[in-house]
Formats: sequence, C-alpha cells, structure tokens
Amino acid sequence: MLNNHIVYIIGFMGSGKSTTGRKLASSLGWSFIDLDRRIEETTGKSIPEIFSEYGEEYFRNVEKDTLKNLNTQSNTIISTGGGTPCHGDNMDYMVETGLTVYLKLTPVQLKQRLSESKGERPLIKGLSHEGLLGFIKEKLAGREKWYNRSDIVIEGINLDISALHSLVKSRLES
Ligand code: S3P
Repeated sequence: MLNNHIVYIIGFMGSGKSTTGRKLASSLGWSFIDLDRRIEETTGKSIPEIFSEYGEEYFRNVEKDTLKNLNTQSNTIISTGGGTPCHGDNMDYMVETGLTVYLKLTPVQLKQRLSESKGERPLIKGLSHEGLLGFIKEKLAGREKWYNRSDIVIEGINLDISALHSLVKSRLES
C-alpha cells in the first residue's frame, strides 16, 4: 500500500485531465492541484507567455521544479500537463511518489476536443485541421511509452468518475 495517497492524472493535451482530476478529488473528498495553474501562479505568467518569452526548454525546467516542490499533503489529486511525464525523470518521480492514472483517448477524439482550444496551447497554436491530426498522431506515438507506464490506464471518453473512484481506492488499499 502506498503511504502517500497522491494520484497523478496523466495524458495528452485535451484528454480532460483537469476536469477529471477536479471531479475525482471532489468525489474522494481530497485536495486538488493543477500543475499548469500552479506554474502560472508561481511565475506570474501564462503558459503561452512562458513559451513565447523563454521557450520550451525553460518551461520544462520550471515544470520539473514545480512538480518536485509541490509539498503535496496526503489525499491529493494532481493533474499534470501533457508533456510532464515525458521529460527528465518526471515519470519515475510520479511513479515513486503516487498512483499514476493515464486518461487514454484516440488521436481523432483528441483532435475533436483540441480544435476548439488550439490558441491556448503553444504547441498546437497555428496548426491547420489536418496539421493538428498529424501532430497529435506523431506526438502521441512518441509519448505513449511514458503514459503507458501508469498504474491505471483508463478510457478518457465518457469516463465514469465513480468507477475511477473505486479503482483508485482499491489500488491504494491493495
Ligand atoms: C503541454 C501541455 C499543456 C501545457 C503546455 C505543454 C504538452 O498542458 O503543459 O502547453 O507538452 O503537451 P495540457 O495537457 O493541460 O494542455
């Protein structure tokens, strides 16, 4: 059994990590942290501003430092950014310190969700509809080796929060 009841929600951009994390936290009566929002609070800049002013490498360093300095109390759900598990030793860190949950969606499902919110996401801003699907397919194929290391892999479409709640509880208690 994990002593620390910390659950990391992992998955591609647009997979519903923040919404699912918030709902799961409320269902369990736990705290909730959104890693991207925490980065914005601590830097005083939005994610697109960080990318455009300092570049992706700088963002990845801030992301890693923020993740490892959350000082998370037990009974907390943390939703991560789509690239968080795939840089440095972040996935090792999350696997060691909590239970990891991958919200899995297909490229077509992700494209449908992301086409409305491209502007808020620096990595896909400015891509055409066709370009977006190609980008998702390629990036997801490269990232799944990290995502698939998660303790729980669950379909992210029509996700039943009470089913996830039970799954998390049983994994933490076993
Ligand atoms: C990123 C995903 C974003 C954010 C940043 C980079 C990525 O978070 O961290 O724009 O590399 O996939 P969401 O997954 O919440 O969109």
